[in-house]
Amino acid sequence: MTAVALEVADKQDVAHGVVSLTLAHPEGSRLPDWTPGSHIDLVLPEGTVRQYSLCGDRWDAHGYRVAVLREPRSRGGSAYVHDELRPGDRVGVGGPRNHFPLVPSEKYLFIAGGIGITPLLPMLHQVELMGAEWQLLYGGRSRSSMAFRDELETYGKRVHIVPQDEEGLLDLAAWLGTPCTDTKVYCCGPAPLLTAVEAACAPWPAYALRTERFAAELSAPVRDGPFEVELRRTGRRVTVTPDVSVLDAVRAAGAEVLSSCEQGTCGTCLTPVLAGRPDHRDTILADHERAAGDCMLPCVSRALDDRLVLDL
Ligand code: FES
Repeated sequence: MTAVALEVADKQDVAHGVVSLTLAHPEGSRLPDWTPGSHIDLVLPEGTVRQYSLCGDRWDAHGYRVAVLREPRSRGGSAYVHDELRPGDRVGVGGPRNHFPLVPSEKYLFIAGGIGITPLLPMLHQVELMGAEWQLLYGGRSRSSMAFRDELETYGKRVHIVPQDEEGLLDLAAWLGTPCTDTKVYCCGPAPLLTAVEAACAPWPAYALRTERFAAELSAPVRDGPFEVELRRTGRRVTVTPDVSVLDAVRAAGAEVLSSCEQGTCGTCLTPVLAGRPDHRDTILADHERAAGDCMLPCVSRALDDRLVLDL
C-alpha cells in the first residue's frame, strides 16, 4: 500500500466513544478527489492499518474527515486514535478507494447502525444535491452514542433517529416489508443489522440492496484440504495449505500483491482469476461478481477446486 503522510488538523468528540479527525496535507496541498462511499486507510504506529469511511465534504479538496469509534476489543487502532493522536501529529494515509459507490436511482432508503452512519453522510449530501427522494433510518444504542445528529437534523423529516434505549430496534419489517422497484437501499452498520436487512430485502429486486461491512465474518472454507495455485505470468506453482492464505502463499512464491486490511474488506488485493473457481470469503464483491468468478481477494478467499490459476 502506498501511503502519504497527512497531518491531524482537527480532532473532536462527536458522540460518546466517537471522535472525528480532519486530516490535511502538511503543506496545504490538494488531496485526491473522492466520491461518497469511499474510505481511506489509516496507517498507525507499528504498522496497524485500519479503514475508515470519509464522512466530510467531498468538495473540500483540502481536508479528509473520518470518525473513529472506540472499539472495546481494539487491537490498538481505535485506542491509539482516541488516546494518543493529537492535532499536529502525522499519520500515513492510503487511498481513497470506493467499494460502496452511490448508483443512480429515483429514491433511496439509507439504513445506518451506529458508526455505520459515516459512509452514508456524504451520500445524503449528494442525493440532496441531485434532488432525489430519500430517507434515513439511523439506529444506535443511545442518543448520546449516535454521531453527527446535529448535522442530520438539518435534513428535517427525512431523517429518522431511533435510539435503542428509547424506541427499541429499527422496525425493518415496516420499512422493508414491501419491495419497491424504484428504490435503492444502502445499509452500513454492525453485522446483525446487515444480516437482518439482507433477509428483509430478499424479496426485493436484484441489486436493490448495497451494504458495507467493516469486518469480514469468515465462515469455514468450502474445502479443508490443500489446493494448488498457478501464477500464470511466471509459471510457478504453489501449494496452499489450510493454515496459509492464498495471499501469503503467492507472495512466498515471488508474486507482488498489494494488501491493506487482509480481512477481505478493503479490496486492495483484488486479483484476476484465469481458471478454477474461487471460494469467495470477502465482503467486497457483489453477488454477480462472485458468480463471474474472474477475480478474487486472496487475503481471505480460497479455492473450490483443486487448482486456481491467477494472473500474477
Ligand atoms: Fe483488503 Fe485483501 S487486503 S481485501
